Amino acid sequence: MFFSSKRVALLLGFSIALVTTAFLSLVEGVSTQALLVGSLLAFSSSYILIQVALDFLVFREIKKIYTMINKLRRKDLSFVEEEKLESSVNPLRRINREILDYAAHKQKEINDLKKMEEFRREFVANVSHELKTPIFAAQGFVYTLLDGAAEQPKLRKKFLKKAARSLDGLDLLVQDLLTLSQMETGGIKMHYEHFNIQETVQEVFDQLESEAEKKGITLKLENTQPATFVYADRQRIYQVMINLVGNAIKYTKQDGKIVTILFTESDTGVDIVVQDEGRGIPTGDIKRIFERFYRVEKSRARNKGGTGLGLAIVKHIVEAHKSEVQVKSKVGEGSTFSFMLPRGEKPIQPALEISQPESEEVE
Ligand SMILES: Nc1ncnc2c1ncn2[C@@H]1O[C@H](COP(=O)(O)OP(=O)(O)O)[C@@H](O)[C@H]1O
Ligand SMILES: [Mg+2]
Repeated sequence: MFFSSKRVALLLGFSIALVTTAFLSLVEGVSTQALLVGSLLAFSSSYILIQVALDFLVFREIKKIYTMINKLRRKDLSFVEEEKLESSVNPLRRINREILDYAAHKQKEINDLKKMEEFRREFVANVSHELKTPIFAAQGFVYTLLDGAAEQPKLRKKFLKKAARSLDGLDLLVQDLLTLSQMETGGIKMHYEHFNIQETVQEVFDQLESEAEKKGITLKLENTQPATFVYADRQRIYQVMINLVGNAIKYTKQDGKIVTILFTESDTGVDIVVQDEGRGIPTGDIKRIFERFYRVEKSRARNKGGTGLGLAIVKHIVEAHKSEVQVKSKVGEGSTFSFMLPRGEKPIQPALEISQPESEEVE
């Protein structure tokens, strides 16, 4: 750099010495020796002072800014983590700080965008793949019918049934996708109420009874009390339970196994536990099963007719209740899914119009 601190200091020091000597020479009776000493002193002191001041206050900071800008140009944002500048009165240091803040902010934005883009790409690929499977199957059955199978009543019914089952799967998938997207855009409002979760579990059992019976699995509700009241969105919790109990049945193979639901009430809330004696989930997969379309056994699970979105929906609903799903599992032994809900109160019988049911005393 042409304007190095040394050069500027030399130039200024020389000028100051010159001016000082010129002034001194105007004073009467000053010897040449004194003039020489005076000019030397003026030069050296101003040189040192100017150089130090420039170096510390200006050039060093400017150099830092340049290095930073160069790094920014090269999109090398590693210095953002390394460098930590304290706030200072030096305006150049403050500029430095501003640049650093700006770069840090941009880096975060870039990282988030990259992550989102990757997630979007993966999601679109997954959705297309999942949609393709039932559509291809239904298409195949319909074409087989058109190619002549429709003439034979027995075959006609068989292929129509198969096509209908594929379309049902498609319907389920689209419904799950809609639920997820509505939840993410905040389109679904939660309707909190006090209700007996044991009744919900009973409804879930009624719904899944035949499926469990077919596999020789017993559904058991272990209750220490006749009723367990929670304060939550009844419809959504039903959805959670259908998914969890459905999975427990689906991923349990042998006869004679039990799927147990139990509740533990504490001061903080009610812990709802769904326990199975099924195939279990490998430790490495546990943290991923809540991702959309993630399945432990890719090919086999597809035959079971799941959408791969069940647990993603469960996670969303439970999180909307400010809670979290816990999973414990051991391969070959079974899995336990649990989550906490706030305790509820027994609602007052709906015979009268009650203005504020929550604050009312319950017997
Ligand atoms: N109770 C369970 N036992 C064993 N594996 C399970 C259980 N629940 C879920 N999983 C695993 O997690 C994956 C994701 O579950 P889910 O989101 O409900 O999708 P789906 O059941 O449609 O495949 C399943 O494919 C399965 O591999
Ligand atoms: Mg499922």
